[in-house]
Amino acid sequence: MIDPFGRHISYLRVSVTDRCDFRCVYCMAEDMTFLPKSDVLSLEELDRLCSAFVRLGVKKLRLTGGEPLVRRNIMWLIERLGRHLKTGALDELTLTTNGSQLAKYADDLAKAGVKRINVSIDTLDPEKFTAITRWGKLDKVLAGLEAAKRAGLETKINAVALKGVNDGEIHDLVAWCGREGHDLTFIEVMPMGEIGDAARLDQYWPLSMVRAELAKRWTLVDSDYATGGPARYAEVQETGKRIGFITPMTHNFCESCNRVRLTCTGSLFMCLGQEDSADLRKPLRESEGDEALTAAIHEAISRKPKGHDFVIDRRRGARSNIRHMSVTGG
Ligand code: 5AD
Ligand code: SF4
Repeated sequence: MIDPFGRHISYLRVSVTDRCDFRCVYCMAEDMTFLPKSDVLSLEELDRLCSAFVRLGVKKLRLTGGEPLVRRNIMWLIERLGRHLKTGALDELTLTTNGSQLAKYADDLAKAGVKRINVSIDTLDPEKFTAITRWGKLDKVLAGLEAAKRAGLETKINAVALKGVNDGEIHDLVAWCGREGHDLTFIEVMPMGEIGDAARLDQYWPLSMVRAELAKRWTLVDSDYATGGPARYAEVQETGKRIGFITPMTHNFCESCNRVRLTCTGSLFMCLGQEDSADLRKPLRESEGDEALTAAIHEAISRKPKGHDFVIDRRRGARSNIRHMSVTGG
């Protein structure tokens, strides 16, 4: 699959549910309304869709949410998708999780062929953790990380940089990740969904400033390590671990974009920052063969836009993307 700008599409992110057992303040409202179950693709349909993408050249699949591990019977899908790793059609099967269910699933994930996972932790302070996630418990997530380590899963930590919330803790996060052997990625807070724009303006903390703060205590050496994703990496000399910076607000990384995103209702978003999507559920449900589905995928890729234009600035205010992150899965 090659888009109109010559970019090879080899990475599919799939939101397997819009539900989550946390309510992170930058992601969800406390009283979220979730999709009716009938709109959501069945696990069998998700398998069929993902497999069609693998056949068309997707080499990396990431399951996201909401929280992927709260979807009932999710291991069935992960084990099914694992067959593409065995044939070599797929290079990597991974997931982004909040870690709440990891203690339960780490062994099964490793057995299914998952090698690496991303776990979101913005703070190591248990009270602050519950304040940010509203419903989360840090000790449960840390137990999940231990289970992941025992199962041999490599874990990368994602932390959203929030001014006035975790800005006093970024050195601790770097030191902790160094000790635990995790790479760490900082993410700029993005304007997704209607969750109160005033708060987001206050919390917006450009990663250029995060990096300047980190440089006071750590020796950061720019690295050309790349995962095909939007993160720029530096190596922390003192810990030997990497720090990634994902800056959708201040740096345009669209030129090298290799990915598309599927929602749990079968809408394909060709760009995180644009409204255009293609409905794949209809061709999927209309026929048992994959011909119509394959045609719809090709048509969608031919519409992949050149880039996005998120804006947070104080004059114009935060311009929100109407989708919540839990819809397109980050
Ligand atoms: N801005 C930046 N990151 C976000 N995430 C969720 N919502 C936002 C947002 N508005 C992050 C989560 C997780 C990843 C999937 O996306 O914290 O690390
Ligand atoms: Fe759930 Fe992740 Fe959103 Fe937090 S950021 S509410 S863990 S989907």
